[in-house]
Amino acid sequence: MADQNTTSTTQTWTHRWTFVLAAAGSAIGLGNLWKFPYMTGENGGSAFVIAYLVCIVLVGIPIMMAEAALGRRGRHSPINSMRGLAKEAGVSRMWELVGWVGALSGFLILSFYSVIAGWAIAYAVDMFSGVFQGMLPEQVEQSFEALALDPVRMSIWHGVFMAMTGFVIARGVHNGLESSVRIMMPALFILLLLLLGYSITETGHFMQAVEFMFAFNLDALTEEALLSAMGHAFFTLSLGMGAIMAYGAYMPKKASIARTIGIVAVLDTTIALVAGLAIFPLVFANGLEPGSGPGLLFVSLTSVFAVIPGGQIIGGLFFLLVVLAALSSAISLVEPLVAWVIERTPLSRLAATVVYCLMVWLLGIGTVLSFNEWSGEEYQIFGMTFFESMDYLTANITMPLGGLLIAIFAGWIMKRAHIAREMNLSSGYFNLWRALCRVVAPAAVLIIFITNISD
Ligand code: PFF
Repeated sequence: MADQNTTSTTQTWTHRWTFVLAAAGSAIGLGNLWKFPYMTGENGGSAFVIAYLVCIVLVGIPIMMAEAALGRRGRHSPINSMRGLAKEAGVSRMWELVGWVGALSGFLILSFYSVIAGWAIAYAVDMFSGVFQGMLPEQVEQSFEALALDPVRMSIWHGVFMAMTGFVIARGVHNGLESSVRIMMPALFILLLLLLGYSITETGHFMQAVEFMFAFNLDALTEEALLSAMGHAFFTLSLGMGAIMAYGAYMPKKASIARTIGIVAVLDTTIALVAGLAIFPLVFANGLEPGSGPGLLFVSLTSVFAVIPGGQIIGGLFFLLVVLAALSSAISLVEPLVAWVIERTPLSRLAATVVYCLMVWLLGIGTVLSFNEWSGEEYQIFGMTFFESMDYLTANITMPLGGLLIAIFAGWIMKRAHIAREMNLSSGYFNLWRALCRVVAPAAVLIIFITNISD
């Protein structure tokens, strides 16, 4: 297969932990802090959480391992890795499409992801400047609504976030990424734990939150919640779109895929659960609505920062860390396509980055307008706003589709000896992984797909 010295994907990581950091940087982001809590709220709590955990274990982790393995064997950008691997396996070049589906998902996801990250920048700035100090929860809610109703302000912050993303990508993944992830992720986790401590000791609603998130209630599990849970498992682990494949290409041969992916998945899930457990007690204590949608993180936490001593600084720092977590995810959405452009066209990294980021910014205006000018029914696509349809299309269709193809490729198309060499597991564990990858994960994706389409 592709010779290891091929420099197309720039560098290999300097340290074996760097893959873990980068993949964790990709996985941990707005999906954990913003999307998981509000989706749990919208989908009725524990039924969603339990389905999500099952999807992570049975579908997410096996596919994530497959994706990293394909990347490491391919050693190129996802599109070219898939082309090389298809050639090696003696199958059609059409498999390259897996890379293209991923590049498309990345583009669409980033267009709304960066709008939400823009909110977080706005909140960090306002928090540090004391705008929220002393506000009551209703006032915090109103100020969130005011932001959502202001397309100009949102477009500017969305632009600032895209400029930050472009800056890191243009500098190259290595310089831009390693240092940021190493320091900021632990800082974010510590702040989340402090917030959790506050929610446990001060709100008096912690047990209600635990019950809301974990009470076993299978009756509440609807098909729609199942599809959302599976889509979210893909979203939160950054699967099915080449991000993990692109990072896998930089992974040293001797690192264990199972161990590193296991660590990343556990970190990612822990952060989501901690975020939920920190946020829901505040939601209940302040009489907020768990199913209130995308504003949940912003309103619930800001209501606390507004009243606790030092809230101005702690809150500012918190939202700053949210921005940085979003940034390390955004980078992994851009890198697969930019890596391909550099390999295949005369365009420089800088030029590719600038063009890409501008295009994402433009598409993102659709999401900006979904919260205001285009929120009316006349602008809806299948009953969804532009933002909701981008989210639905990626999380529920293109990412699971990419993941399904990756699972089929790793499980059925690649030579057993080749994939076994990448996995480097004892035969019992290898067979377990292979059964999940060949049968369980594809069947789960297909069944959930089909039931939803037939509705
Ligand atoms: N996993 C990221 C999050 O949870 O915020 C979002 C994401 C990043 C999805 C990168 C897909 C991706 F390729």
